Amino acid sequence: MEQYIIKGGKPLMGEVTISGYKNAALGIIAAAIMTDETVKIDNVPDISDIDMLLKVIEELGAKVDRIGKNKVKINASKISTVTADTESVRKIRGSYYLVGALLGRFKKAQIALPGGCNIGSRPIDRHIKGFEALGAEVKIEHGLICANTDKLIGTSIYFDESSVGATINVMLAACLAEGQTIIENAAKEPHVVDVANFLNSMGANIKGTGTDVIRIKGVPKLKGSEYSIIPDQIEAGTFMFAAAASKGDVLIKNVIPKHLEAFTAKLLEVGVRVEEYDDAIRVTTDTRPGSTHVKTLAYPGFLTDMQPLMTTLLSLSTGTSIVTESIFENRFKFVDELTKMGASIKVVESNTAIITGVERLTGAIVSASDLRGGAALVLAGIMAEGYTIVENVEYIERGYEDFEYKMQKLGATMAKVNSNDTKAIRKFKLKVS
Ligand code: EPU
Repeated sequence: MEQYIIKGGKPLMGEVTISGYKNAALGIIAAAIMTDETVKIDNVPDISDIDMLLKVIEELGAKVDRIGKNKVKINASKISTVTADTESVRKIRGSYYLVGALLGRFKKAQIALPGGCNIGSRPIDRHIKGFEALGAEVKIEHGLICANTDKLIGTSIYFDESSVGATINVMLAACLAEGQTIIENAAKEPHVVDVANFLNSMGANIKGTGTDVIRIKGVPKLKGSEYSIIPDQIEAGTFMFAAAASKGDVLIKNVIPKHLEAFTAKLLEVGVRVEEYDDAIRVTTDTRPGSTHVKTLAYPGFLTDMQPLMTTLLSLSTGTSIVTESIFENRFKFVDELTKMGASIKVVESNTAIITGVERLTGAIVSASDLRGGAALVLAGIMAEGYTIVENVEYIERGYEDFEYKMQKLGATMAKVNSNDTKAIRKFKLKVS
């Protein structure tokens, strides 16, 4: 097992460049198999969730060529099966987009129920409701989502609560339905817009993404395209909060500042300086943050994915803060680990954290149990006095490209070592002491 070893207490300084958005890339790679022509996608993040999805579409019969660290060429003219039931499918969340993509193109799909981070119950009833409204018969059998129809017919679909996954999945299938589909109370997240822009570049006719109402006019066929994925707003937010937590000065490049507004607003509120440029953002501070209240909401509200990072930053604040998680019920699991480092946080009614700011955190052995909670523990390690070991880094590598390398470039004293390699751990400590 790999783990990060971190010697904390140093401010992060310098520049970091943000990679492509994982959650957009998952939808876009699934969409790429909806045409028999070649698709080239740029700014694809080099992370394990993407490796797994690419492997799955290869297993379906698509030809996948990695033509660079962040560029991939996909040709799905020889898809030979609509069934995917391997470990890779079951491990990632984004594999459920293959249902929408295959249902759109072949009118049938059998995809294993998705995995992803254990952050709550994560049902897929809204996806199923959307596919059924388009005319598909959907059953869960032997752990597979089985969807089937003769034809998809455009219709009006109202989601009583917004869902990123269901909005993207229904959008994928509806592109190749007959007639017009209207999705009401659609998710407005930037990756919904990015997947739609990609589909439109393939010849789809989707309007209104980024608003509550998406209108999709079905087309008979999609074509090849070249596309570049938007920067990852969560990776950008992670480095913004890391700069603030370490009392550093970091210029975060290749970002869309509009997508970061909720994080910027909270950082300004707790006294951190944030300067926006066209495609970069600079975060600097030399004091402990003030306290605040945060509630996670769908975009443009404060993203649930950033909650663990915000909670960690506030653990060092000068007052008492309240963070309420309203999207996923299990997203405070990292808090137990954070308290091993001296944080004073009480979680009440499983969705509210009351954080009493402390003056310092101290290094400890902690364990990641999901992607963003894991990244938050790295942040804590960077803020803390002494050595921190973050176990289970495979969770973090699901969603952050070159994480330790980017942190090291900003001056963080950290390395990735095998947990059995006591020599490497000793060597690291000797080198940095
Ligand atoms: N929900 C249902 N039924 C459904 C779908 C969703 O009840 O059919 C509920 C969920 O349980 C949750 C809420 O609706 O309480 C919102 O879920 P949503 O569908 O929006 O989330 P998701 O598609 O499962 C994506 C990201 C998550 C991110 C959330 C919220 C991907 C692959 N995952 O999940 O990203 O937290 O949107 O923005 O795009 C991550 O990157 O670490 C991550 C977990």
